[in-house]
Amino acid sequence: MNNFAFHNPTLIQFGEASINKLNRLIPKPAKVLFLYGSGSIKKNGVYDQVIEQLKHSDYVEFSGIEANPEYHTAMQAIELGRQYGTTFILAVGGGSVVDAGKFIAAGIPFTSDPWDILCGTRVSEALPMGCVLTLPATGSESNTSAILNRSELKQKKAFSSKCVQPQFAILDPTVTYSLPRRQLINGVIDPFVHVIEQYLTYPTNAMVQDRFAEAIMQNLIELGPSVFEPNNYQIRANLMWNATQALSGLIGAGVPQDWSTHLIGHELTALYELDHAATLAIVLPRLMATKKHQKRDKLLQYAERVWQLDSNDEEQAIDQAIEHTESFFRSLGMKTRLSEYGVGDDAPERVKQALINNGYLQLGEHRDITPEHAADIIRQCL
Ligand code: NZQ
Ligand code: ZN
Repeated sequence: MNNFAFHNPTLIQFGEASINKLNRLIPKPAKVLFLYGSGSIKKNGVYDQVIEQLKHSDYVEFSGIEANPEYHTAMQAIELGRQYGTTFILAVGGGSVVDAGKFIAAGIPFTSDPWDILCGTRVSEALPMGCVLTLPATGSESNTSAILNRSELKQKKAFSSKCVQPQFAILDPTVTYSLPRRQLINGVIDPFVHVIEQYLTYPTNAMVQDRFAEAIMQNLIELGPSVFEPNNYQIRANLMWNATQALSGLIGAGVPQDWSTHLIGHELTALYELDHAATLAIVLPRLMATKKHQKRDKLLQYAERVWQLDSNDEEQAIDQAIEHTESFFRSLGMKTRLSEYGVGDDAPERVKQALINNGYLQLGEHRDITPEHAADIIRQCL
């Protein structure tokens, strides 16, 4: 196991009716910038619950944060937040609203151009923030990362800072009852791939991290078929907590990581507007197959422990584990080929150029996935 520091300071308020705790969680006095998306919270009752909790606070609303949050929209919120004298950011929504909240929290006190935050300038200060999560998937509610989209440049860029980690996250599984099927599918696949990217590298004898990772993957495989059951509290509660734990820092502490599927996937979202999880379901199986020699030991462990495959014939076990992974995604109703989305032969070259432009020249745990290799992988994804 490698050396690590682990500190996750987000308070998780979990369970039915936990939005009732929101007023107590917001530090007082506060001037709250209340952020949300395109209006799902007005249809499912979350907005009314939040407004009830904010009635003793000063607040201003900012709505319209898109899925794959747009940089320009977040800049408008930064402008409003500055004029208002905001002291606290409240993000109510899925990963996109939470991510935008993190960028806005860092952008309000930032003295130069906030675009620099997404181009690598270190964030040393941010407004405190909290969130009410409505879509379990990204893990953004208890981590330090955020990803913003700048569609006119066809760029999706990430930043990370412990200054923007939410102080609290309210997780009420009943708010997921209104999720459409497509977002539930995303909500199973995104955390599954988060776990894989912190697990499927090479062994470092990290027993806790490995077995926690295997447990989350097995849980998601078990939950997958029943996740569409309407109003099933236990299923939704387990989905929500698995998704949070998949990217809360715990399973990634002290182990090598390989975020190449995500980084290649972000380029596909920026270029072709595919859902984040959809890009992962396309890239991951082909990337696993391409890297099966470098990832051999962990792939065998994955085959044995997650899929209970007989590993006497090692080659066969690895191939079957990769097939099972893709079949699992497809069994949920997710497509796993670019052509199924109408993406054509230009994709390998465009992804390669985008990775070069963004400076992602050496991906993977061995830093051996170059933009050329990524283009080969994308060619196999067509
Ligand atoms: O706009 P609203 O009204 O909020 O509707 C959203 C949106 O249309 C809707 N939705 C959310 N909760 C709902 C609901 N509809 C009905 N009932 C509910 N309870 O679902 C749509 C998608 O929402 P979005 O927030 O975009 O989805 P998700 O949570 O999957 O977030 C995706 C974004 O997170 C980034 C992705 O790249 C993408 O931009 N990620 C962030 C990460 C992080 N910060 O750690 C890690 C991830 O790997 C990921 O990259
Ligand atoms: Zn993800």
